[in-house]
Amino acid sequence: MQISFATPAPPSAGGKAAEGARVVGAVDGGALLPAAVRADKAAGGALTRAVKVSAFKGKAGQFVEVPAPAGIRATRLLLVGLGKPEALDEKGLETLGAQIAARIQASGDRAAFFELDVPKGCKVKKSALAAHLAFGARLRSYKFDKYRTRDLEQFEKTLAKVTLLTSDVAAAKKAYAGLQAVAEGIFLARDLVNEPPNVLYPAEFARRARAALTKLGVKVEVLGEAEMRRQGFGALLGVGEGSDRESQLVVMQWNGGRKSQKPVAFVGKGVCFDSGGLSLKPGGAMMGMKGDMAGAACVTGTLLALASRKAGVNAVGVIGLVENMPSGGALRPDDVLKSLSGQTIEVLNTDAEGRLVLADALTYTQRRFHPRFVIDLATLTGAIVATLGFEHAGVFSNDDQLVARITAAGRHTGERVWQLPLDPFYDKMIKSKIADMKNIGGPNSGAITAAQFLKRFIEKDTAWAHLDIAGVAWQDGEQKPAIPSWGTGWGVRLLNRMVIEHYES
Ligand code: BES
Ligand code: MN
Ligand code: ZN
Repeated sequence: MQISFATPAPPSAGGKAAEGARVVGAVDGGALLPAAVRADKAAGGALTRAVKVSAFKGKAGQFVEVPAPAGIRATRLLLVGLGKPEALDEKGLETLGAQIAARIQASGDRAAFFELDVPKGCKVKKSALAAHLAFGARLRSYKFDKYRTRDLEQFEKTLAKVTLLTSDVAAAKKAYAGLQAVAEGIFLARDLVNEPPNVLYPAEFARRARAALTKLGVKVEVLGEAEMRRQGFGALLGVGEGSDRESQLVVMQWNGGRKSQKPVAFVGKGVCFDSGGLSLKPGGAMMGMKGDMAGAACVTGTLLALASRKAGVNAVGVIGLVENMPSGGALRPDDVLKSLSGQTIEVLNTDAEGRLVLADALTYTQRRFHPRFVIDLATLTGAIVATLGFEHAGVFSNDDQLVARITAAGRHTGERVWQLPLDPFYDKMIKSKIADMKNIGGPNSGAITAAQFLKRFIEKDTAWAHLDIAGVAWQDGEQKPAIPSWGTGWGVRLLNRMVIEHYES
């Protein structure tokens, strides 16, 4: 989908608007905004009449459509409700942009012109209004169709061109440039999650990260198994033992800040497929486990977004890429692994593999970069899905200010998080009879014991937060039997927002 910005032309003028839909707005209660009033006049009052015979009340996301209006060179006139002006924020505008795009998409139009005014009482600037509508429309245009060979027209996204009509074109373009970078990061993250695991195994993920990021000025290093063995990544390598695919650690550095400034650090779980290993998952639970690298995908997408908009920050992304498979050489329940930190781990369930990967990735990140903070993202536990469902990610942290910042950024972007506790009590639940710890807790509070495990790998003085994104990283969209297969790109917006608010110079 191509996005552009232009100054409004009169609604009756020929040329530009002839080909597509023209979108205008109304507020809660139904009052038409200025552009809608003009369009209504040009169309001889068709909009007012249509509103009168419909249930339209101007609520956010409500629509009234006048197809083939007389007096206006447009395929259709679409009136959209913006809801209560005071409640309309950037996130709401993105939702609206997506809803409008979906609606027009269904009508078959190839082009659309949005002309929405900032309603009185709404605090968003007109350039931001246009930019965030565009961002929402763009995010909605995502598709992943590369493996279809039949009925392509059925899946085609025909809406190819969206033009935002605004009197402040320069400012809107500028605001959108930053958002476009974020959209690209989200699309990369979604693509990585959606790719099947026979295609996207650790080395392929590493290649794609390198290809996407190097050209933007990100320094990308890839450590293979030999190098990791030499350095002592016993926990991460243990998980990959059963796989024919080589495990990888990818280190991505964006240096957009001052030289002396310590970096912010993001660490991602990248289990390209989680069969459970010898503690094999049952068939139903194994479906969708190609997406067990969503944390790594988010970190990669975030680095892309930051680099692509040339963010004034030093940021590192470290992702541990492995495949968790059963085989004659696979990690066994009862094995003891020595982690990079030196601590030993008794593995009692090979399906609790994410924490093993993260343990070494976290140690490496802290010891090498001494970051201002480290945030890890991982589809870590089914327990977080049972606890918070699909609406919130779980956040665990040793630093209240970091939690406050993550929570605020997530509220802003619509990626909500909810804090759960860490506590010495839960620490007792991961005591091992023969090693420093075991990799599973008891039957209850599984998301918490997983986080408590990770905390053992946080060095003194490192501000750290762990985001368990198992519930939010993918959704089943329109498909009803809930087969998780659709990457959301969750977290890219949130991390980008956090950087903007607190860490960018
Ligand atoms: N990748 C899974 C967690 C998961 C479950 C993600 C469902 C998305 C949807 C993780 O590696 C796992 O298997 N966790 C186990 C841990 C248990 C063995 C302690 C779980 O949650 O059941
Ligand atoms: Mn697992
Ligand atoms: Zn897993």
